[in-house]
Amino acid sequence: MEEREQVDIRTLSPQEFWAQRRRLGDIYRRAYRGLEIYAYTFPGEVHSYLRWLYRGDPEMFLVAYNGGEPVGFLSGHRYWYDRQLGEVGNIHEFVVDPEFHRRGIGRALLREAIRRFSRDHSWVMLWVGEGNKRARAFYRKMGFEEVGRAGIWIKMRKHISKESL
Ligand SMILES: CC(C)(COP(=O)(O)OP(=O)(O)OC[C@H]1O[C@@H](n2cnc3c(N)ncnc32)[C@H](O)[C@@H]1OP(=O)(O)O)[C@@H](O)C(=O)NCCC(=O)NCCS
Repeated sequence: MEEREQVDIRTLSPQEFWAQRRRLGDIYRRAYRGLEIYAYTFPGEVHSYLRWLYRGDPEMFLVAYNGGEPVGFLSGHRYWYDRQLGEVGNIHEFVVDPEFHRRGIGRALLREAIRRFSRDHSWVMLWVGEGNKRARAFYRKMGFEEVGRAGIWIKMRKHISKESL
């Protein structure tokens, strides 16, 4: 399926990340409204978390722009270690501004992340909150399967070699 929204996806230089961190933090907080149990909420925590995400793998910190404005981002880390699968690509965070939900932006971000992960990995995995029905529906639609649980978190994974979304 084609994206329904004109969206430009790219990585950020450290300077760009620094300049945009507050905007990205605002998108993160808005996206988790009503789901705060799965998110950081204090501004200082959110900023430290975003820095940690970015520094962990700048090439996998993907930001979606619509009309020049950031509207979502996905943070992946390559070479994550999974007990069952060994080295995998891991999606740590993934948010789209609620004003832009259901317009294909999440799909576009995930597609770009998978394109990049598939250079080195056959699997991508993530943890999602058990009560996060929207995200679980999204990931299932994108071909992820639920393979485990730890407390309030559900583990999902997707085989990505020679596959497209
Ligand atoms: C998960 C999230 C990133 C999806 O972003 P999005 O841009 O709205 O997703 P898309 O528009 O690309 O959706 C693609 C498909 O996923 C499915 N989907 C998306 N949102 C859904 C929902 N609320 N309910 C059911 N299915 C949904 C649909 O099949 C959709 O296709 P369709 O609109 O043609 O039916 C977004 O809901 C979000 O930011 N959630 C809050 C933060 C979060 O929970 N992140 C995940 C952390 S693990």
